[in-house]
Amino acid sequence: MLKIAVIPGDGIGPEVICEGLKVLAAAAGATGLNYELTHYDFGGDRYLATGEVLPDGALEELRGFDVIYLGAVGHPEVPPGVLERGLLLALRFGLDQYVNLRPIKLYPGVWTPIKDKGPEDIDFVVVRENTEGLYTGSGGFVRRGTPDEIAVQESVNTRKGVERCLRYAFEYCRKRDRAKTVTLCGKTNVLTYAFDLWERAFHEIGAADYPDIKREYAHVDATCMWMVKNPEWFDVIVTDNMFGDIITDLGAMIQGGMGIAAGGNINPEGTSMFEPIGGSAPKYAGKGVINPLAAICACGMMLEHLGESEAAQLVENAVVEVTSTKLKSLAAGQMGYSTAEVGDLVAEGVARQ
Ligand code: IPM
Ligand code: MN
Repeated sequence: MLKIAVIPGDGIGPEVICEGLKVLAAAAGATGLNYELTHYDFGGDRYLATGEVLPDGALEELRGFDVIYLGAVGHPEVPPGVLERGLLLALRFGLDQYVNLRPIKLYPGVWTPIKDKGPEDIDFVVVRENTEGLYTGSGGFVRRGTPDEIAVQESVNTRKGVERCLRYAFEYCRKRDRAKTVTLCGKTNVLTYAFDLWERAFHEIGAADYPDIKREYAHVDATCMWMVKNPEWFDVIVTDNMFGDIITDLGAMIQGGMGIAAGGNINPEGTSMFEPIGGSAPKYAGKGVINPLAAICACGMMLEHLGESEAAQLVENAVVEVTSTKLKSLAAGQMGYSTAEVGDLVAEGVARQ
């Protein structure tokens, strides 16, 4: 029996998670998978009501699950950072989910803003380091609020943290078995400490343990350029937390938008968490217009991670069918269907196979 913790979260989170769970039920029905859901009300509303973001003992409790399925975090009445740091990053860090795996895949029938590129050109994976870099919260103010104020935000890169992320990328690339190329995305020409460590570790580990995998390097600015100009050049990109955050929003756009972009926060030895990568989009909340495919794809990634490849494949096939034959657009309010109808279409597609 798989134990799944569900955190629908804020804004459109609950609506899209509801559709993801619909599809999960269909996939389980088709494959005989057994699972048990436990819902948690963590998020902005709970914080406004109780002053608590992540209650004492919550992390410990979540460690007992096979996996976590998360909707979205972010509430217009809560100051920026409270929920992001106190919930999303607290979970990523607290559960040591050291890889953020974000596939950039253009499905058939999906519009991309990149002219003359199709599904055969846009199909790569970003392995984003997820527990270090600029995200650790290390830093501080000096003379805050004065004209002589100094604000320092430190990028923390440990050999161990960098190495485990790189190894994950190499292993993933080997398993993926496509162009067998890992591209390190960095900024060695300016961040001469942080990316010196990344680059040395990249080549040392690659040469010693992954001679079958080709190693390439690209500065982050050039990576952005090539993601637009020649996305087909990429197979697996590995990068630090901040650059990974930025390039995966660009990636989401070239794969058809936030309506389809999914990701996994992975601790290969612990509890991982899957989520649509878009935000809580409060202006669309409760309207039934948001695209649930990102949450549904996150559910597919979750199944794959749990070793339920057959169920994951059913979800993937159904999503492809829906994008290529049904949806007019992936954008909110322009799909030609409501949120729930898209969930129904995918669930039916799963059951029919
Ligand atoms: C993401 C988000 C988060 C991040 C925010 C909400 C803290 O943008 O998952 O990419 O920066 O990691
Ligand atoms: Mn982001």
